[in-house]
Amino acid sequence: MILGIDHVGIAVEDLDGAVERYRATFGVEPTHRERVEEQGVEEVLFDVGGSAIQLLGSLGPDTPVGRFLAGRGPGLHHVAYRVGDVAAELAALRAAGVALVDDVPRRGSRGTSIAFLHPTGMEGALVELVQHEG
Ligand code: CO
Repeated sequence: MILGIDHVGIAVEDLDGAVERYRATFGVEPTHRERVEEQGVEEVLFDVGGSAIQLLGSLGPDTPVGRFLAGRGPGLHHVAYRVGDVAAELAALRAAGVALVDDVPRRGSRGTSIAFLHPTGMEGALVELVQHEG
């Protein structure tokens, strides 16, 4: 089911500062920036060899990333696996008794369909499934 690592999400306190550090440290340029109101995040993506680093800033304290930052501080937030059909994968995982955050796929950035799996069933790591259109 896993076609590759789509991206690795890193929660940051200061999105513009983090972007500048990535640019200065690795000589990479952001390839995408998007504010996703439903998820309470603003994200910046850097392409790295067919996958991406996703820097995640929160849109406020009462958002998932805002609560993550308040509780644990900045750092690794989730790993996103690319799949061909997120709805089908979700149904199979639900049937297998895997703990899900999302019962149905929702809209991600870049026109993707996404769903999160609960860390309790994923060795303590928050896992996202991502399906790209086309
Ligand atoms: Co993500």
